[in-house]
Amino acid sequence: MIADDVARGFARVIERTAFILGAEVAEFEAAFARFSGVAHCVGVASGTDALELALRAAGVGPGDEVILPANTFAATALAVTRAGATPALVDCDPVHLLIDPAAVEARLGPRTRALLPVHLYGQMPPMEELEAIARRAGLVLVEDAAQAHGATRHGIGAGGFGFAAGTSFYPGKNLGAYGDAGAVLTASAEVAARVRALRNYGSEIKYRHPERGFNSRLDTLQAVVLLAKLPHLAAWNRARREGAQRYDELLAELPRVTRPATLPGNEHVWHLYVVRVPGRDRVLERFAAAGISAGIHYPTPIHLLGAFAHLGHRQGDFPVAERAADEVLSLPLFPGITAAQQERVVDELRRALA
Ligand SMILES: Cc1ncc(COP(=O)(O)O)c(C=O)c1O
Repeated sequence: MIADDVARGFARVIERTAFILGAEVAEFEAAFARFSGVAHCVGVASGTDALELALRAAGVGPGDEVILPANTFAATALAVTRAGATPALVDCDPVHLLIDPAAVEARLGPRTRALLPVHLYGQMPPMEELEAIARRAGLVLVEDAAQAHGATRHGIGAGGFGFAAGTSFYPGKNLGAYGDAGAVLTASAEVAARVRALRNYGSEIKYRHPERGFNSRLDTLQAVVLLAKLPHLAAWNRARREGAQRYDELLAELPRVTRPATLPGNEHVWHLYVVRVPGRDRVLERFAAAGISAGIHYPTPIHLLGAFAHLGHRQGDFPVAERAADEVLSLPLFPGITAAQQERVVDELRRALA
């Protein structure tokens, strides 16, 4: 049982009073790197920190623009501003709602320094195209893999394409901690060492601080939780995939519902099962009345959030992301969901659209 493993692990940490960067942190980092198929994992305090530290490790900062999709969680853009750089937003493709390589190409400019694609809902955008653009334009490629534990593109996992990937173990993620936690994944020992220093006050050797860093370590108690859960992650991802397939079948008879599509070449881990429906808010109300909790990811694209008003965008700038914001609906999906629960969700959806 996970709860027993966690209790035993907590007791060990408490007995040793090794609360900061204890052995479990290194053990989890090695295990999650193996799971992800990349050489290095550095545990940090959150997914937002992971992205910020990856960007900082690449030397991204004031005066630099970082291209990212308008259709993502605010934290992707916040990581850029926290690194001192400026988000350069682009639209997504209308089928998968993933960052559109053609839009990236069109947005390149003299200040573009980095490219930050998001593996939204559990699948990767066409990384080979993005990698080629980054190489041609001399950009640093950092992946937002917060929603994509175990996802691959043509067999390659997050962190395997570019400079590094940042991921989150927020409790609702495919692998969730008992609080905030995150990690940087990278194929480069040098990048891993840079992030290790940045997360620990800019210091690799105690009381030596060659640079200004942060306090952003993966908590040892959270590492215990993540170590206890990690052996189950592959099975949980399989269960999510089966749940997604069942929704696909059940929804085939509802022509007004657009089902999510998997980009060929992707191993999708179904962090979210996102459909598109007309009159989405009415459907959501009916779900709430029936005790079904569905979500919207995300109701407002980045360029229309108050936090990013300074970028000077207007309604209409990213029409695909804006339309998606009005239509997307994340149906309940978690590893233990039953066929009966999914049928009930689809029945309610059918009634709402009637
Ligand atoms: C796409 C995306 N990026 C970044 C984050 C930020 O992660 P955290 O909440 O751990 O800071 C999240 C999750 O919250 C996310 O979904």
